[in-house]
Amino acid sequence: MKNNDLAVVILAAGKGTRLKSSLAKVLHRAGGRTMVEQVIRACAALGANKTIVVVGHQSEVVVATVEPLGATSVLQQPQHGTGHAMQVARRALGNSKFAIVLPGDAPLVRPETLKALLASHRSANAAATVLTAVVADPRGYGRILRKSDTAISAIVEESQLRGDQAEINEINSAIYCFTLAKLWPALAQVKPNNKHREIYLTDAVAVLAAKGDIVVAQVAADSREVLGCNTRADLAEVDRIFRDWKRLALMDAGVTIQLPETVLIDPDVVAGEDTVIEPGVQLLGKTKIGARCIVRAGSVLSDAILADDVVVEAHSMVADSRLDDGVIVGPFARLRGGNHLKAGVRVGNFVEVKKSTIGEGTKAMHLTYLGDAKIGSKTNIGAGTITCNYDGFLKKPTIIGNKAFIGSDSTLVAPIRVGDGAYVAAGSTITENVPADGLGIARGRQMNKAGWASKKRRERASASGAKKNTAKKSRGTSKKRRR
Ligand code: UD1
Ligand code: MG
Repeated sequence: MKNNDLAVVILAAGKGTRLKSSLAKVLHRAGGRTMVEQVIRACAALGANKTIVVVGHQSEVVVATVEPLGATSVLQQPQHGTGHAMQVARRALGNSKFAIVLPGDAPLVRPETLKALLASHRSANAAATVLTAVVADPRGYGRILRKSDTAISAIVEESQLRGDQAEINEINSAIYCFTLAKLWPALAQVKPNNKHREIYLTDAVAVLAAKGDIVVAQVAADSREVLGCNTRADLAEVDRIFRDWKRLALMDAGVTIQLPETVLIDPDVVAGEDTVIEPGVQLLGKTKIGARCIVRAGSVLSDAILADDVVVEAHSMVADSRLDDGVIVGPFARLRGGNHLKAGVRVGNFVEVKKSTIGEGTKAMHLTYLGDAKIGSKTNIGAGTITCNYDGFLKKPTIIGNKAFIGSDSTLVAPIRVGDGAYVAAGSTITENVPADGLGIARGRQMNKAGWASKKRRERASASGAKKNTAKKSRGTSKKRRR
């Protein structure tokens, strides 16, 4: 869809005093993205000729967030209210006929709702169309005063409610469509008649209605879409709804999610059919999961790429790593960044892997650290194997071939190579390359002393007998002394 006569204006200059934060309000996150990004994305489907973001508080950081998303920013300094913010944006709007105006703190709005708002504005030939919602608890929002079933006479801000107006449960979403030629003269008449001395965009709506211009209300089908985030509690509620929608979308795509309310999924995550996500899992960043995978309880995946039939056992962490078909990791595995585990690899409990490539069918099942390693296929890494990849200055590589066998509790001091089919004897500290098919053994030779243990026990027994006797005697003397 392309609407060349339309511009989008996002009001994002406010500080967000009620959040009690050093971060500008619109940069707070909900549903895995900053609020302002959520709003810009929702508007993309409108095909407007431009998207203008009015910035003020922490303008540099807000600009750095919105401009890469294709928006143009306009500085409002100081901030004299939502109506003033529109006046500041005027020049940037050029000759656009219509503007969809949104606050930067209501991120749940959906593209379909915005398209419908524009369509009804056009068909009613309105000066302003206000997206409203009917809610159980209207506190904190401007209330809609109706003229008729479709027309609005005014929007009254919470602080200016009179008499029984507080009971009105139709609220202003602060999302509007304006015919700009009508808006500017109306806005010029608005006075800062409120305790904050601000020019309210909401008051322009009353001016238009009083002049007899067409001001209509469009009631949002789902009132949750217009939730504004002024407080941390609002943010938590909006985040919860985003997460809920994301989980439902994945379930619709054929993913099983157990106890869904305990599972946190970022917006860009995808997962294939018949994958099962157990309770308490987090799927973050650009994680991509194939079909028939299982991610068990308490695991955290971020920017992980899982092919098909992968199992992540309970309480594992997988970051920025690629796991090919049939890989099994965990429980309690930690895959840090830059790993590639090829088909059928098994990484077991308390195994940490970093910047390593592990070949098909290779196993590292217990208590191991593999860092900067390149390991071939069908190799066995014994329990407690450590790649000593860091000498205090530089990271060094460990290269292990195919079908090698690293005995338990070995330390491989990098840079080092273990050839195809080679063995490393358990408990070795390997500092020299082990050739293919060879055995590397580097440990103290064992010596057995016959009869040593029983001799030791006899010595212990006679020593402790002597001790008891002296103790008895000394107790006797102390009693006497006390008397
Ligand atoms: C606003 C509406 C209220 C509506 C509610 C819905 C006004 C006067 N009130 O109240 O009717 O029910 O949203 O969420 O519009 N901003 C600027 N420059 C300014 C002031 C604000 O850019 O000078 C931006 C803020 O950054 C924010 C948006 O405008 O993104 C709305 O401001 P906010 O202070 O959140 O208004 P509300 O009290 O929520
Ligand atoms: Mg607000």
